[in-house]
Amino acid sequence: MGMAFAKSFIKYDLVQKSELLLVEKSKERCESLSQGKEGVVVNTVSTEISHFDLVILAVKPQDFASLATELKGVLNEKQVILSIMAGIPIKKIQEALGHHAVVRAMPNTPAMLGMGITGFTSAEGIAISKLFKIENLINATGRSVYIEDEAMIDAVTALSGSGPAYFYYFVKYMVEAGKQMGFDESTALQFVKQTMLGAYHLINNAEMGLDDLIKAVASKGGTTEAALKTFENRHFDVAIVEGVLAAEKRAKELSN
Ligand SMILES: NC(=O)c1ccc[n+]([C@@H]2O[C@H](COP(=O)([O-])OP(=O)(O)OC[C@H]3O[C@@H](n4cnc5c(N)ncnc54)[C@H](OP(=O)(O)O)[C@@H]3O)[C@@H](O)[C@H]2O)c1
Repeated sequence: MGMAFAKSFIKYDLVQKSELLLVEKSKERCESLSQGKEGVVVNTVSTEISHFDLVILAVKPQDFASLATELKGVLNEKQVILSIMAGIPIKKIQEALGHHAVVRAMPNTPAMLGMGITGFTSAEGIAISKLFKIENLINATGRSVYIEDEAMIDAVTALSGSGPAYFYYFVKYMVEAGKQMGFDESTALQFVKQTMLGAYHLINNAEMGLDDLIKAVASKGGTTEAALKTFENRHFDVAIVEGVLAAEKRAKELSN
């Protein structure tokens, strides 16, 4: 995810390579990253970091505690910290780093293609000009929405952070049905992927809501209705809502 951010910043000329310092702890990956054009690559946290305006935390949440001990001594008070770590509240980051200016963001994996969506929120008192700069950087990975209430980051996690996996899951079982009806996997995948893409664009362009879009495909007594009735009988609607709420609940548990 950190590399997705770095690549997007470079791709859209928001920063120059010399302005981006990538801290990569694996020596092997350090060497391969140094061949690329995403930034200056170093192997350890050092005082060099204090010269940068923004410090992005893109390690797994369980690695944050050890990273925080390394970072604590090298930050300067004018810097802003942007965390994309799931489940670590601003307050905990501030305490661990002894640093007030923390922005917390929740991106998703389509950020790798510049098609992500990120919800972000911030500690109080960060200058609006600094927040705009961060928003510009995030927008290089897709779209962004500023969230006033940090608690809603858990809902962002459940909807869009985890969302791509729900979509892959649905696609997987549509492809499975395609195979059961006699298609090979790649043909079934081709039908399902293009259907999802087209339907996405209709949601964006048709002047009707989701219920009407469903009605426009599902004629009375027809094939779509047969599928939808089966989904309803199996309480698929309830399962989807419960699943997303379970993700939100888990995000809250992790935050605590
Ligand atoms: N993937 C998603 O869908 C998604 C969505 C939203 C938010 N996020 C958040 O984004 C963060 C990164 O996720 P990811 O999926 O990109 O994880 P990842 O692929 O494991 O990337 C984290 C990287 O940080 C490195 N690292 C760990 N400790 C370090 C240290 N002290 N100094 C320098 N580098 C260090 C890891 O190296 P090693 O592998 O050698 O430990 C790894 O290369 C997580 O906090 C996650 O919650 C992810």
